[in-house]
Amino acid sequence: MKIRAAVLEEFGAPLAVQELDLDEPRAGEVLVRLVACGVCHTDLYTASGADPSGYAPTVLGHEGAGVVEKVGEGVASLAPGDHVVTLFSPQCRECVHCVDPRTNLCMAIREEQNKGHLPDGSTRLHRDGEEIRHFMGCSTFAEYTVMPEIALAKVNPEAPMEHACLFACGLSTGLGAAMNTARVQPGTTCVVFGAGMVGLGAVAGCRLQGAERIVCVDLSEERLELARGQGATDVMVGDEGTVERILEMTGGYGADYTFEATGLVGVMGQAVEAARMAWGLCTIAGVAGKGETLDVVPRLLITGRRIAGSSFGGVKGRDQVPELVNRYLAGEIDVEPFLSHRITLDEVNRGFELMEAQDGIRSVIELA
Ligand SMILES: NC(=O)c1ccc[n+]([C@@H]2O[C@H](COP(=O)([O-])OP(=O)(O)OC[C@H]3O[C@@H](n4cnc5c(N)ncnc54)[C@H](O)[C@@H]3O)[C@@H](O)[C@H]2O)c1
Ligand SMILES: [Zn+2]
Ligand SMILES: [Zn+2]
Repeated sequence: MKIRAAVLEEFGAPLAVQELDLDEPRAGEVLVRLVACGVCHTDLYTASGADPSGYAPTVLGHEGAGVVEKVGEGVASLAPGDHVVTLFSPQCRECVHCVDPRTNLCMAIREEQNKGHLPDGSTRLHRDGEEIRHFMGCSTFAEYTVMPEIALAKVNPEAPMEHACLFACGLSTGLGAAMNTARVQPGTTCVVFGAGMVGLGAVAGCRLQGAERIVCVDLSEERLELARGQGATDVMVGDEGTVERILEMTGGYGADYTFEATGLVGVMGQAVEAARMAWGLCTIAGVAGKGETLDVVPRLLITGRRIAGSSFGGVKGRDQVPELVNRYLAGEIDVEPFLSHRITLDEVNRGFELMEAQDGIRSVIELA
């Protein structure tokens, strides 16, 4: 079929919205009509050429929500009409990691996904016979996409798509960092560095876990205001004195849990230092620049601080994204403040500009 999609032709150049051919779903695959899609830093990171593993031409986008149109052979868990959220982090439910409760890092299709292929090693996207690669296994800056069944979470159809799509990446990452990776305990003190989509999600996750005190640190007063809306009890503009102020606020000890959601290694260091001696856990969600390293004084670890990394918040997507969406529908997560701009597919490059200008938390492309 013919579809319209936003193609990354060349690193550093604007995306080009154009007509492409999309093949029928093969065995284990699903054709999805996209309704909404968030514009994320990872899309821009690849578009800019900064990502060393990036490839082109490809259809970007990975924060999609839509409706199943058609299923390929052997697909049993989804049927036409189902509402789905796309998962760049799939869940096969069978591999060594999927059967272990400690991780969400599914191994089933990793290699081919990293090459921009569907699991069988080919692409469904073409242009005059040329292969167009699938970005993060999703390629959701498009009217339709074909994705593996194991990379789609079936969600409650009552959830508006423009909100549901935010659970495809940053929001679930932040929520999951607090709920799965750190497993924040009730009555504790948490500090979240960064109040973008991921950090705000972490603030909400700490609140849902019953934290007593949630401090959010960011450079933007506007974003700190959003953090209050998600449950931050204290907010602070970050600088070199941040750690000292957090120690002062916590009787000189530091916080039970800290979260880093900026991608800056300097801030990661602060998040480690702000974690409490004896048992403080620092969870790192930010993605650092290529080649950057995190410097940690080993004494901080010997005296009981721990550091954990979190990919997609440790969320096992097919099981947990539907649960998170239901908690949102039950009124436990306030998603509307994250949706800053509604744009069309043709305005996708404007979505990047808004993000670079830090104008709002998320721009969402409305496709239908
Ligand atoms: N681990 C994962 O699976 C995963 C998933 C999605 C995104 N990410 C990463 O998470 C990070 C955050 O993503 P986002 O979409 O929320 O980004 P964002 O750019 O919207 O938010 C980052 C925030 O950090 C703040 N900040 C900058 N310097 C700071 C400082 N010195 N102290 C405190 N705050 C500071 C900025 O003001 C901004 O609000 C990125 O690195 C992104 O790549 C990771
Ligand atoms: Zn994303
Ligand atoms: Zn798996």
